[in-house]
Amino acid sequence: MNTTAEAIETNTGNLRASDFDGERAFEGTLGDITAAEPRMECREVNVWYDANHAIREVSLDIGKHEVVAMIGPSGCGKSTFLRCLNRMNDTIPAAKVTGSIKLDGMEVLDRGIDVVPLRAQVGMVFQKPNPFPKSVYENIAYGPRIHGLTNHREELDELVETSLKRAGLWKEVKDRLHQPGTGLSGGQQQRLCIARTIAVSPEVILMDEPCSALDPIATAVIEELIAELKQEYSIAIVTHSMQQAARVSQRTAYFHLGDLVEVGATGQVFEDPQHHLTRAYVTGRFG
Ligand SMILES: Nc1ncnc2c1ncn2[C@@H]1O[C@H](COP(=O)(O)OP(=O)(O)OP(=O)(O)O)[C@@H](O)[C@H]1O
Ligand SMILES: [Mg+2]
Repeated sequence: MNTTAEAIETNTGNLRASDFDGERAFEGTLGDITAAEPRMECREVNVWYDANHAIREVSLDIGKHEVVAMIGPSGCGKSTFLRCLNRMNDTIPAAKVTGSIKLDGMEVLDRGIDVVPLRAQVGMVFQKPNPFPKSVYENIAYGPRIHGLTNHREELDELVETSLKRAGLWKEVKDRLHQPGTGLSGGQQQRLCIARTIAVSPEVILMDEPCSALDPIATAVIEELIAELKQEYSIAIVTHSMQQAARVSQRTAYFHLGDLVEVGATGQVFEDPQHHLTRAYVTGRFG
């Protein structure tokens, strides 16, 4: 009789080898890739890093007022896919992206579009909080200024206050607005980065493992914030925590070695996964 550890190893090896190495047996995403009110529509998106085909024919909508969680084993392409949504992969010379990604009908992958306003419309929050080496106030005011939203002191003051309030940080920082953002705690810095994203009026917020550097209390605060933010914004979040995906998202997308294996309502994906790879991952057999 195998030990559980051996069983996990055998299962993992078999699943990867038989399904995805060499001859690919993948027959397309299971579940409904569409959203009732799509804000972003991704169709047949492929990404290569030189010869490494990191994302294969991925189609997925991100709807208005919803949180979509992206889960899957390390290296399966979650960050790569997320970065396509606001053309962050442009900054990686080896990356080549094909397919179609529309934001409210506008083709994001069109070479002719200006990525600066795009990255305001589709903002990004990273794994490690990365405030600018400036004051709390300037961290928020910088974006609206360079995007030409406003340059008036009073309007900026108001925008800084509203953004910090929306990010649930105002009370904690209102008396230290002119101190360095980097002097805040990790959880506060992450909320500062969220406030900075909000300040430029995004439509979509991308979050790549936003809580992985935070303690459980700071994580809970961010999760509550995500629940509130979805009333106004569409959110795509990559997470390694299935509990987090279950708590914050309405839909979940399961990625495996560059394929979008399955997508569905979060409850369904966790409780009744349709694909054996999704089932193996959500029951903790690999990942
Ligand atoms: N900047 C890069 N240059 C070259 N290859 C890359 C780059 N970023 C990612 N890759 C490759 O693309 C594939 C997908 O990586 P990606 O970082 O998107 O995975 P991930 O699902 O986000 O993993 P993790 O859970 O560890 O963050 C991997 O094979 C990775 O090595
Ligand atoms: Mg990643």
